[in-house]
Amino acid sequence: MAREIVIVIDFGAQYNQLIARRVREAGVYCEMLPFNTDIEKIKAYKPLGIILTGGPSSVTDEGAPFCDARVLQLGIPVLGICYGMQLMSVMLGGKVIKPTNREYGKTLIDVDPSSPLFNGIEDKTSCWMSHTDHVSILPDGFSGIAGTVNTPNAAIENRDKNLYGVQFHPEVAHTPKGKAILSNFLYGICHCSGDWKMSSYIEEAVADIREKTGGGKVLCALSGGVDSSVAAVLVHKAVGDKLTCIFVDHGLLRKYEAEQVEKVFRDEFDIDLIKVDAQDRFLSRLNGVTDPERKRKIIGEEFIRTFEDSAKKIGKIDYLVQGTIYPDVIESGKGNSAVIKSHHNVGGLPSEIGFEIIEPLRSLFKDEVRKVGEELGIPHDIVWRQPFPGPGLAIRIIGDVTIEKLEIVRDSDYIFRSELASAGIDKDVNQYFTVLTGIRSVGVMGDERTYDYTIALRAVTTTDFMTADWARIPYEILEKVSNRIVNEVKHVNRVVYDITTKPPASIEWE
Ligand code: XMP
Repeated sequence: MAREIVIVIDFGAQYNQLIARRVREAGVYCEMLPFNTDIEKIKAYKPLGIILTGGPSSVTDEGAPFCDARVLQLGIPVLGICYGMQLMSVMLGGKVIKPTNREYGKTLIDVDPSSPLFNGIEDKTSCWMSHTDHVSILPDGFSGIAGTVNTPNAAIENRDKNLYGVQFHPEVAHTPKGKAILSNFLYGICHCSGDWKMSSYIEEAVADIREKTGGGKVLCALSGGVDSSVAAVLVHKAVGDKLTCIFVDHGLLRKYEAEQVEKVFRDEFDIDLIKVDAQDRFLSRLNGVTDPERKRKIIGEEFIRTFEDSAKKIGKIDYLVQGTIYPDVIESGKGNSAVIKSHHNVGGLPSEIGFEIIEPLRSLFKDEVRKVGEELGIPHDIVWRQPFPGPGLAIRIIGDVTIEKLEIVRDSDYIFRSELASAGIDKDVNQYFTVLTGIRSVGVMGDERTYDYTIALRAVTTTDFMTADWARIPYEILEKVSNRIVNEVKHVNRVVYDITTKPPASIEWE
C-alpha cells in the first residue's frame, strides 16, 4: 500500500525544515522539494496536500522565487505560509504591499472558527509573525479568516478550491495553536489518515533492505554515533549475519567509547563487528601536525584507507550502509543548504570503492532517527548522545596530538560529562566537552610551583548547531568540575569556562 504524502515546497524559509518536521510529527509523511520543481514531478507523488513555505524574498522583488502556478489548479488542497500565502495571492490575481511597519514576534490574532483551518480554535489566540509585506487585495473567491492589528488579512481561504493561507508561522512553538492548525489542514482539509509511524517505518525499511540486498554481503562503517548505530541495527534486523560492521578505533575517541560500541553491538545485538585498533596509524600520521584543517584531512584520508584495508580482508562486498539523513538530502529553496554541513563526517566514503550504497535513514529527520533507534532497543545513551566530530579529540587538542595530551583531554572530558550527568543537566545542554588549550601557565600545588596546561570547558545550547549560546551551568557544578579536573588529571593546573556565543566563535575550538 502506498503511503500518503504531503509535499512541502520550499522557498528558503528559516523554518522550512520545521514545517516538514511538524507535518511528520502529526503522523503524515512529507517531503520537501525546491520551489522550481517540475509540476509533473509534484503530480507524480500524488500528494494529498501541498504546503508553500515562507522565504526571505518579497514577491514584489524582481527574480523572487515562484513555483509553477499550476500547483494551485491541481485540485489538491494548498496551504501557503507567510511568503507562501503572499505568492498564492499574487499568482491568483491579488495584491501584496509593503506597509511602513513590519510585524514581528508574538501577536494577538482574531480568527474565524467557522473556517475548517481554525476548527476547534478559540476566536482570540496568539501567533508568531515575521513579515514585512502583506496581502492587501485578496484574489477573487478568497475571504479573510483572521486579522491582527497591523495585518487585516492574517489568514485567507478559498474554501471551494481548498486553498488556504496564513501570514503567521504555525510551525513554531510561539504559535500556541500552530499544531492544531496544521492538523486541521492535514486531517480536516486534506483528509489524511496519519499513516506515518516509526514502527511501520521499521517494518517497511526492513522489507526494502531485504529485497534490495537479495542475500548479498553488506558492510557498514560503524562510528558509534546516532545515525550509523541506528542504520547498522536496522540493516542487521533485515539481513542478519550478511552484515559486517567495521568500527575503526582511531584512538581519538572519548573515554570508554570504544568499549561501549563493542559491548552493545557485538554482545547485545550479536552483530558481526570488526574492531580495528588503528591508533598508532593515526597518531603517526598526525605527528607534529598543528593546523586544524590538516588534521581533519589526514584523519579523513586515513579513515578511508584503514576502512578499505579491513574491507578487503572480508572479501567481496556488495553493499555499503551509510547513515545519511533527510536534512543532508534536502535541496534548499535557496539552493545553498549544503553550506550548513561544511564538515565532512569521516563516515562519508567515496563511492568509487565499488559497493552499492544503501541509506536506510535517508528520509528521516534526526528526531525520527532517534525514535527508530529507541524502537529498535538501542541503549538510550547512544540514541540521545550529543554530537561528536568525526576527527574526534584531535580537534580538541590545540596544537600537535600526542598520547599524553589525548589522556588529558579524555580524562577531563569524562569528569565534565559525569558531573553534568549526575547534576541532571546533561539533557539541557546540547553539546559539552573539554579542550586542551595549548596554554601552559604558572600555578602552585602544595609548596611547589607548577607550570602546566589549561583546560577549557565548552558547553552550548543550540537547536541547529549553526548558532549557539554558552550554557549557563550553575557555579557550584563548575566549581566541582574544576576541582576534580585539577586534582585528578595530571598536568592540568587551571580550568577556564568558554563564554563565547557562536558566532563569532565556533563550537569546537579548532
Ligand atoms: P563548529 O565548531 O563548526 O561545530 O561550530 C558545529 C558542529 O559540528 C561539529 N563538528 C564536526 N563534525 N567533523 C564532524 O563530523 C568535523 O570535522 C567537525 N567539526 C565540527 C561540532 O562538534 C558541532 O557539533
